[in-house]
Amino acid sequence: MPKKIIELFSQSSPESTPPIWLMRQAGRYLPEYRATRETAGGFLNLCYNPELAEEVTLQPIRRYAFDASIVFADILLIPDALGQKVWFETGEGPRLEPIFNANNLSLDRVNEKLSPICQTLQRLSKSLPEATALIGFAGAPWTVASYMIAGRGTPDQQPARDLMASDSSGFLSIIDILVDATTDYLEQQVLAGAEILQIFESWASSLSGESFEKYCIDPVARIITGLRKRGINVPIILFPRATDYDLAVYAKQTGANGISLDQFCDLDKIVKKIPEDIVLQGNLSPDVLVEGGQNMLNKIDEIHDKMNGRRYIFNLGHGIVPQTPPEHVKQMVDHIRRNKEV
Ligand code: CP3
Repeated sequence: MPKKIIELFSQSSPESTPPIWLMRQAGRYLPEYRATRETAGGFLNLCYNPELAEEVTLQPIRRYAFDASIVFADILLIPDALGQKVWFETGEGPRLEPIFNANNLSLDRVNEKLSPICQTLQRLSKSLPEATALIGFAGAPWTVASYMIAGRGTPDQQPARDLMASDSSGFLSIIDILVDATTDYLEQQVLAGAEILQIFESWASSLSGESFEKYCIDPVARIITGLRKRGINVPIILFPRATDYDLAVYAKQTGANGISLDQFCDLDKIVKKIPEDIVLQGNLSPDVLVEGGQNMLNKIDEIHDKMNGRRYIFNLGHGIVPQTPPEHVKQMVDHIRRNKEV
């Protein structure tokens, strides 16, 4: 059976029903995820357990038959594999022992430490329904570095921007090792069965102009060029969340095949500006999905209309949030498939 979402990247015109998947589609909004997480003994243990990670990846596919499944893992596994101390405080989020240069990081054990995620991908290649595509992912260097330097999530990534200003070579040494580790890791994911890659630049919003070009565009461009040189030809989707940078320029300079759009962007403008060969994705606000009802259905139709006959993947503007009622996800999927199928 053909995989709709992969075909989309090689066709010139879309089908009437867009393929659908959701960022963070495996997660705390599902009771079965919370139950499996309980048995794993913590979030990192769940990521590094191929059998349980496979199970939580499959859970949303069983419920909603999404067109793609994203392997269960986290963008902060790379810092862990590089030798930085990473842990998750329940109910609070990630914590890391802050670093200010790459002196104590090493690429030596990256492939070995991340091999459980490749095992999860191998298992999924066999267990996923034939029509479901498998997505691998990583964080973009700037976004991952912002956690490594601050030791936690921050509203404005100030600690990383301070280091950029006070010790640019220390800062760059972290970006550089992340480019190398991420290129290796994404290559390994494709060799293990990933058919599409997504790179999350969740904190694109805190850099602009020249610093955006140097630390968001350049490192991601190096990763993509590196992958292409190694013969990795799968579609690559980028998610530069909440940036005010010109997305057409960003897509061209990074070498992206797809751009995932947040809920803040002006869809009319973007659809006109980004060349047709770039597949678009996203844009529905996660809050609209929490709310559900007629407003959600209207917003879904609005996105479809604004995409105006071009190729796009239905998705959210950011990850699904824990308070999302699972039945709203069902209503969303049914609405997209019922309304648009001829
Ligand atoms: O279903 C999927 O999308 C695949 C798995 C996935 C997770 N994290 C699992 C996860 C993916 C693709 C990510 C990406 C990720 N992780 C990003 C980029 C996307 C984004 O949301 O901006 C970032 C910034 C992280 C780092 C991270 N991981 C944070 C800040 C947190 C805590 C906040 C939160 O959302 O819970 C996590 C934890 C995390 N990653 C959970 C899951 C399911 C929740 C862990 C739990 O069970 O308590």
